[in-house]
Amino acid sequence: MSILNRHSKLERHATALLVGALAVVTIGGIVEIAPLFYLQNTIEKVDGMRPYTPLELAGRNVYVREGCYTCHSQMIRPFRDEVERYGHYSLAAESMYDHSFQWGSKRTGPDLARVGQRYSNEWHVEHLIEPRAVVPESVMPSYAFLMERPLNPSDITAHLTANIRVGVPYTEEMVANAAADMRAQASPDADTSGLEERYPNVNYGDFDGQPGRLTEMDALVAYLQMLGTLVDFSTYDESTGYR
Ligand code: HEC
Repeated sequence: MSILNRHSKLERHATALLVGALAVVTIGGIVEIAPLFYLQNTIEKVDGMRPYTPLELAGRNVYVREGCYTCHSQMIRPFRDEVERYGHYSLAAESMYDHSFQWGSKRTGPDLARVGQRYSNEWHVEHLIEPRAVVPESVMPSYAFLMERPLNPSDITAHLTANIRVGVPYTEEMVANAAADMRAQASPDADTSGLEERYPNVNYGDFDGQPGRLTEMDALVAYLQMLGTLVDFSTYDESTGYR
């Protein structure tokens, strides 16, 4: 019997075909998945990436809750037009502490992967309160209510712990200081030395411009100002990806 004959027989026998197809798919699946268990890390490490500070993490939660990702991506693709507009293309390591990641695929507004430090805190606050006050043709909704919503420091410890469960390397010290660190980052007069030690390159200030109040606006602006600023690209070697 030729192979063609055998194959047409198999095709006519539904159960045998199903078992055969399952066997082939299983082999293919194992070949693709098994190597991943032997790799130490599927993400190339880059210097500068650190877990988000408690305030940035709280801001990220507001970003997700408000659905900013429905209009904004956070992934600069390696194409010339993207790199010229937004800056260096995104590295996988830059979203390694994002659970869930915010790459997105819809760009009603611009990509935000490197928006950090591009505008002042005041600009962000004014823009979030009323986008058309700074960009007259904007279709972005107003998020003025974030100025009024207090940030609750008591839930942040649980957010850090949840992130540890999915692999973010927050230390016990970071968890123990979470609520204090969250307040310190938004209070320019606070002692921020512990915060800076735990989270290098942290950027602090009275983000929402309302001294003495800790609001969701503080958290969201702190998060936006950090985006894309952690990796120092002046020391990043393009050709190898290593420094
Ligand atoms: C309905 C779509 C939509 C939603 C939802 C939305 N935006 Fe926007 N966003 C835009 C558009 C359009 C622009 C460009 C015009 C402008 O600057 O307002 C923009 C611009 C921006 C900019 C300025 C970017 C730059 O490089 O100039 C920031 C920052 C921003 N949005 C943050 C946010 C945040 C944070 C949220 C969630 C709280 C959000 N946006 C929700 C549509 C949206």
